[in-house]
Amino acid sequence: MMPSFPNISTSKDQQDSRKLANGDCKNQQVLTRRQLILQHRKSLPIASVERRLVEEVRKNDTLIIVGETGSGKTTQLPQFLYNAGFCHHEKIIGVTQPRRVAAVTVAKRVAEECNVELGQKVGYSIRFEDATSSSTRMKYMTDGLLLREALLDPLLSRYSIIIVDEAHERTVHTDVLLGLLKKVQFARSHPTTNQHNFIKANAKGREDESRSFSPLKASESAKSTSLKLIIMSASLDARCFSEYFGGAKAVHVHGRQYPVEVLYTYQPEPDYLDATLITIFQIHLEEASGDILAFLTGQEEIESVERLVHDRIRQLPDGSQNLLTVPIYASLPSEQQMNAFKPAPSGFRKVILATNIAETSVTIPGIKYVIDPGLVKARSYNPVTGMESLIIIPTSKAQALQRSGRAGREGPGKCFRLYPESEFSKLTDSTVPEIKRCNLSNVVLQLKALGIDDIIGFDFMEKPSRMAIVKSLEQLFLLGALSDDYKLSSPVGQQMARLPLDPMYSKALILAKEFKCLEEMLIVVAMLSVESIFYFPREKMEEARAARKSFSSPEGDHITLVNVYRASAECLEKSKTTNSKEKTMEKKLNKWCRENFINYRSLRHARDIHSQIEGHIQQMGFSPSSCVDDMLQFRRCLTASFFLNAAMKQPDGSYRALSSSQTVQVHPSSVLFRTKADCIIFNELVRTNQNYVRNVTRVDPLWLPELAPQYYAAAS
Ligand code: CDP
Ligand code: MG
Repeated sequence: MMPSFPNISTSKDQQDSRKLANGDCKNQQVLTRRQLILQHRKSLPIASVERRLVEEVRKNDTLIIVGETGSGKTTQLPQFLYNAGFCHHEKIIGVTQPRRVAAVTVAKRVAEECNVELGQKVGYSIRFEDATSSSTRMKYMTDGLLLREALLDPLLSRYSIIIVDEAHERTVHTDVLLGLLKKVQFARSHPTTNQHNFIKANAKGREDESRSFSPLKASESAKSTSLKLIIMSASLDARCFSEYFGGAKAVHVHGRQYPVEVLYTYQPEPDYLDATLITIFQIHLEEASGDILAFLTGQEEIESVERLVHDRIRQLPDGSQNLLTVPIYASLPSEQQMNAFKPAPSGFRKVILATNIAETSVTIPGIKYVIDPGLVKARSYNPVTGMESLIIIPTSKAQALQRSGRAGREGPGKCFRLYPESEFSKLTDSTVPEIKRCNLSNVVLQLKALGIDDIIGFDFMEKPSRMAIVKSLEQLFLLGALSDDYKLSSPVGQQMARLPLDPMYSKALILAKEFKCLEEMLIVVAMLSVESIFYFPREKMEEARAARKSFSSPEGDHITLVNVYRASAECLEKSKTTNSKEKTMEKKLNKWCRENFINYRSLRHARDIHSQIEGHIQQMGFSPSSCVDDMLQFRRCLTASFFLNAAMKQPDGSYRALSSSQTVQVHPSSVLFRTKADCIIFNELVRTNQNYVRNVTRVDPLWLPELAPQYYAAAS
């Protein structure tokens, strides 16, 4: 059996931190722990330029900081600024991250460095999880969350400084945030001129939410204080940020980088997962000690490689089984994300299976070997068809370099690129900003809710295509969020903007209230927000299929997901009556998941999301309703919600998506893979060698013109 991480909780670090938490401050070991942290902080490259950085922030309203990953930007800079007095008058230093994992792990680390309880002076806030309090001064959050905060506090008046971290990632939220912050910064330093927009948005009847912010009062005080902006980036293209911010000053923090030997394969690898597996064991058996970091494209891949590694470890001779796997990806529950940062038990080698999250967002100590198959999962959008899909594409050169750099943080390392050297030169230099390759309806809805009506004229750092903007306006109109002059004037649009979900899912919840199936739709939205609820291990395919059958609905995947969720809730309910300890209940759920080939991590995440959205809709005054067994009603509601994703069966058995006329296939993971329904709605388009649709439900084609006349009536 693999030793699991909890076994290492006796490590000295943890004993010390437990004593720390118990307030045993005089203890010699605790002092050692504190000294170690202090020593670590002092040794970071950024420590030597603390004074200069603080000075630059004082002198410049906007500053760009470029520094290699691991130099200490994310963890140290907020502390420098806090100590320099930038939190006077209860102001906050906000640090945005493109990813939840980074916000959580870094906040935990900084709280520890500051020797404070998380959620007090140092906290984090991410969608569906808030660990802050009124005393929080250094707040780590996702960029999407800060955008939502701007809805309630348009001048972001509680913040003295906002640090936009990992700006080189150019996620759609980062890009929109940069545009918004530019406006906010201007408004705060010109209190009499450009405030109209911002105050206007505030006045849109959000009294219920304003309790926690008291925006008006805060806005008053913000008038006289300017907002400092710091843009941090790991890569060297500071120029584009500087140009966008009117020639803002850029400073470089030099990192410490040891040489990394880069190795390529002779031939292209036909199966990169298999190649990854072979390379992991090659390193484990032949190379000196040091942890391995392998880059994969998503949760499903990570989990399947994890299982294969476990299987292969068992076949190794005694004495070489000391290999431990640790997954890390965006949707992993935060307490499990922390496992990646714990050192492996003595004598063990750790192999971290990560998505591109580990490129720059999080710095994991101890890595000496990097395995890079050269691929990444990315969003792709076709503005002509209006379809967004997830595809696996080659990384850019910048990403490949970031990945190999991870091996040289603490000493010389090795990077195994699983492609021939000739392929490297064919990679694009840098990644295309996400805003250029995603569906913009979410962005447009948020900007509209912020009182920014002219989307095409908005000062984006990189303008999305006009066609993509028009398409998203059209989509929001069809969903009933915008009026025919493209204004966010309807109550439906206002409600949609308040829910932290994709507009289509927000609309589904609003409709479910009318269709009296809110309970079911809430479950579906939560379950669709996580990756892969089911798993099918290669060696137990038949058992897994049989298990899934027990939940399957002949109507499709949505009802199947409801069945799984309800069965899991029943399992929890049962264990509650026998033993109410939470840990025991979770253990029972975990066991139930294993028996039923359900992904425990995903289900846990879905349960969290469920309770958070439930909170939102309760606040919005939605009363609970269930269609109980009337699944016809529920399918009609699914049709009314996802009518833009409908497809009709073709004579050859494939499907034609009605909105885009694309040919699509039902994904093999769907319960409708073999049963060919005449008409379906779906939630996801995945492109591999074919266009696959996932999360599919059978519907009656006549429902389309009946329930979505705004789209189908004219055509029928
Ligand atoms: O932001 P940047 O990449 O420049 O560095 P950072 O995230 O501030 O990390 C600085 C150092 O803190 C890393 O090299 C890690 O050794 C350590 N760190 C950690 O031990 N645990 C964390 N959760 C985050 C950082
Ligand atoms: Mg960082």
